Amino acid sequence: MSNKPDHYYVTTPIYYVNDKPHIGHSYTTILADVLANYHRLLDVPTHFLTGTDEHGQKVQQAADKNGITPQQQCDQTVIRFQELWKRLEITNDDFIRTTEPRHKTVVQQILQELYEKDEIYKAEYEGWYCVGCERFFAEKDLVEGNCPECGRKVDSIVESNYFFRMGKYQQWLIDYIETHPDFIQPAFRANETLGFLKNKELQDLCISRPKSRLAWGIDLPFDSDFVTYVWFDALINYISAIGYKSDDEQFKKWWPCSCQLIGKDILTTHTVYWPTMLKAMGVEMPKTVFAHGWWLTGRTKMSKSLGNVVNPMDMIDNYGVDAFRYFLIAEMTLGQDASFTEEAFVKRYNSDLANDLGNVANRVLSMIDRYCDGKIPVRSNSVDTNDPIENNPGMEQDIWIAVSAISTEVGEKISAMKLDSAVGSIMSAVRMINVYLQERAPWSLAKQEGKEELLNHCLYTAAECLRVCAGLLYPVMPAKMLELRTALGMADAKPHVGKLSKFGVLIPGSAISQPGALFPRIEVEKVDAASSRVAPAKQPVKPPKAGGTAPSPSTPPPDGLITFDQVMNVQLKTAVVLAAEKIEGADKLLKLQIDLGTEKRQLVAGIALHYTPESLIGKTIVVVANLKPAKLRGVESQGMLLAASLGDSLKLVTVDGSIGPGAAVK
Ligand code: MSP
Repeated sequence: MSNKPDHYYVTTPIYYVNDKPHIGHSYTTILADVLANYHRLLDVPTHFLTGTDEHGQKVQQAADKNGITPQQQCDQTVIRFQELWKRLEITNDDFIRTTEPRHKTVVQQILQELYEKDEIYKAEYEGWYCVGCERFFAEKDLVEGNCPECGRKVDSIVESNYFFRMGKYQQWLIDYIETHPDFIQPAFRANETLGFLKNKELQDLCISRPKSRLAWGIDLPFDSDFVTYVWFDALINYISAIGYKSDDEQFKKWWPCSCQLIGKDILTTHTVYWPTMLKAMGVEMPKTVFAHGWWLTGRTKMSKSLGNVVNPMDMIDNYGVDAFRYFLIAEMTLGQDASFTEEAFVKRYNSDLANDLGNVANRVLSMIDRYCDGKIPVRSNSVDTNDPIENNPGMEQDIWIAVSAISTEVGEKISAMKLDSAVGSIMSAVRMINVYLQERAPWSLAKQEGKEELLNHCLYTAAECLRVCAGLLYPVMPAKMLELRTALGMADAKPHVGKLSKFGVLIPGSAISQPGALFPRIEVEKVDAASSRVAPAKQPVKPPKAGGTAPSPSTPPPDGLITFDQVMNVQLKTAVVLAAEKIEGADKLLKLQIDLGTEKRQLVAGIALHYTPESLIGKTIVVVANLKPAKLRGVESQGMLLAASLGDSLKLVTVDGSIGPGAAVK
């Protein structure tokens, strides 16, 4: 892991309290949580702020409709966010509500100071107002007479108002963005803001609303006939919450903010309004404003009217918190839009969590249980050194070096906000452990005399690699990864970066436990599409309830039987061996080039003690064609061949007669 900053302050937008929390809100908050968890793991002092935006017309309208005060309306609806964050195991250090006195006081102080500095002035205003967006637009900015942001109808309004002299900062802002490439991320969003700033004159910002039209807001301190425009009020939350104008020490500790996460739709408010407001106040800019893309339902925008909004609570109820968090982080490439379908969710869950991670965890823990009396085994005791792995080169050293190197890679990727890719790297490490086990075959060592030491060393190494992967995944799936690390016999299961890439953290002799199926496989069932929770899921599924105990490949059912679906997930095909050669330094491995009918592939197989390379050329073999590629001794293997083995004997599985490559084996 790398790039350790001296502090880390991360914020989410504050959500409109009236909205029902949906996947978009959950995503930004989970993303902030993962970043906060990761920095805490690095031992970087971290502060994570989220909250709710509680003023404005929509709250007032809802309150009027419900016959309650706007404050009561807010108090009732804020709970939905607070409860969701609890369920999603969000570890925010603070939750700010813009109706809290600590916020309102600071907003008023800022307004007063800006007014006294003539940064705010009063003028007659004529413009077009969008109630939905709570923003004014100039006539030239309307799109076919409608709001350029949301497309809804706008109202023509003439009134006296107060204005912030935003326009005078136009050139300063262009220069600032151009000389601070980290300020707006991803870079193409900086270009978007620059395009906006360079192509038209930046207007002053109307920052008041007459109370005659809207009473629910923060009073202007210098004119009680007006309240503050909701965006001017809301943006200030990022500094009011950390002590701006109330606690200098706290404020200096956290500001400038390290990372302000936003959705792409609120880019202008955060990269034009906000920096010019800060500039006028004489406050430093945040280091980075990062705009992520949108979650779409399939390819369609989520909207209440289409009825395709994904409800996070349903996902948590059905699949568990950790799987939901994992999917959102693994699936979205930051900056771009991502598609949510329940089908994609189930596919990724089954392949990454149930098959790969769940399977490795189950294999390692079950074998330690079976072969090592349920206790973490001793590492190689044939070498008298503090760092036995250095002196025991071979497969164990290879797998450890490969897995521990991933922690550096993950650190770099997280710093570069490539979280999906970071998770991908961890999953490739998980698959490497699986391949290593396959190659080292501890179950066969267990049957051989005199191999106890190697068996112990193998399982110790595998457990260590698993510990590292679980540590790296902890920021994304805290509960499940703590469970897994506890199952590995760790008294202090919370990961710490100092120990992550050190070999020898697990203490031999400590009792392991079986956590049950960490990620029970989700059975895909042909059920009535109407019962599917997410509209476009083409292939509805029957999920296990969170915490349920549906059978999975990682926990064979007591009768040892698997379902038809599980068999059908494995694609077996015939292939013809085109070329074969030994792999230097790996006595047991051969590298094969095979013809799979529609494509050529490379396989690595542990058959060198049983077949010479030449004897394989032209043979028709059977391979698992849909196995994820993995590296064995640094050589990529794109599949696995089948062989029958008994004692010391091993024979390739072939077909009875002549059939071309690519034939399905059923
Ligand atoms: N209250 C303002 C923010 C003020 S911050 C000083 C606001 N609130 S919001 O509740 O409407 O939206 C909050 C965030 O949710 C925005 O960043 C928005 O981009 C995000 N999302 C809303 N729908 C989304 C998706 N479908 N996908 C991803 N995020 C989306 O705006």
